[in-house]
Amino acid sequence: MDFFNDLADFSTAEIRELITLACRLDEKPEPRALDGKVLSLLFLSPSLRTLVSFQSAMVRMGGGTFVVSPDMSIHGLESRSGIVMDGVAAEHIHEAVPVIASYGDAIGIRAFARRENLDDDLADREFRELIALADTPYINMESAINHPCQSLADWKTMDDLGLPANGGKFVQSWTWHPQPMPLAVPAATVQMAAMRGMDVTVLRPEGFELPDTIMDKARQAAAMSGGSVTETDDRADAMKDGQVIYVNSWSSARHYANKRAEDKFKLELRDWCVDEPWFENAASDCRFMHCLPVRRGVTVTDRILDGSRSVVVAEARNRMLVQMAVLHQMLSSS
Ligand code: CP
Repeated sequence: MDFFNDLADFSTAEIRELITLACRLDEKPEPRALDGKVLSLLFLSPSLRTLVSFQSAMVRMGGGTFVVSPDMSIHGLESRSGIVMDGVAAEHIHEAVPVIASYGDAIGIRAFARRENLDDDLADREFRELIALADTPYINMESAINHPCQSLADWKTMDDLGLPANGGKFVQSWTWHPQPMPLAVPAATVQMAAMRGMDVTVLRPEGFELPDTIMDKARQAAAMSGGSVTETDDRADAMKDGQVIYVNSWSSARHYANKRAEDKFKLELRDWCVDEPWFENAASDCRFMHCLPVRRGVTVTDRILDGSRSVVVAEARNRMLVQMAVLHQMLSSS
């Protein structure tokens, strides 16, 4: 495997193979599988889970990592092309990325959406520019429009729970958040659930529709898998018989890059905070999923997060296991 950027690059059989390998590595560890291998980790955006799960994954298979992020005492990084560097930044990514990549056998890169231009973010322009500078296999650790490691972990989490693929009802809901949030996780999640063959309902208030490019791609995946993708602002209708509610916050495409306009637009939407009444006509054991980090009392109530519906910690642990599988396929010589 030369890259891991988008679940859509893989067949369902290949995804299932990765998940089978993740389960095998959990049950029968291979502490020498990546002996001597090094994974470079470039974090241009913050993280908890992605950072430590990749480090742990490599160590568990005998390899190692190093981390570079702007918060460390590195030279200030410039990413704009054609710029005269007479400001604070002393180093350009055009040199920094190939240098960092040259110290490892593969590179993971995280670069959140800049949220300056919707079309640029939908095209994943910055991430594509970054990986074009690296001459090694690469892993998308969350870009403007994708988070494939999270989605692979979420797919495995639903398998672990025995949640049906074909015919399973998956509700992907927007929730209120004080900040304009990226489209990466919602885009990756709707794609994952559609590829898994689930009947996906995107629940969101008017004005928070996911962009057509995201929905069209997911609908194409659903057409191949036998699933479906619909959207609504009717919470009771969306939640009816739901087996999973996957919660996330994302920016309004109508007010993209305009926080003040979005803040005003969502003033009345603070009740989009998941609580037990949401589950009134859902399946009795409907699960609550979230990629984390999550804001308690804002996105979801304590009683849901701390209750039996929540599988957020299992999702996070699965990050490490599926990434072990990806790294094994990418770097192991066996
Ligand atoms: N879910 C996820 O990617 O978590 P971090 O942002 O903490 O890495």
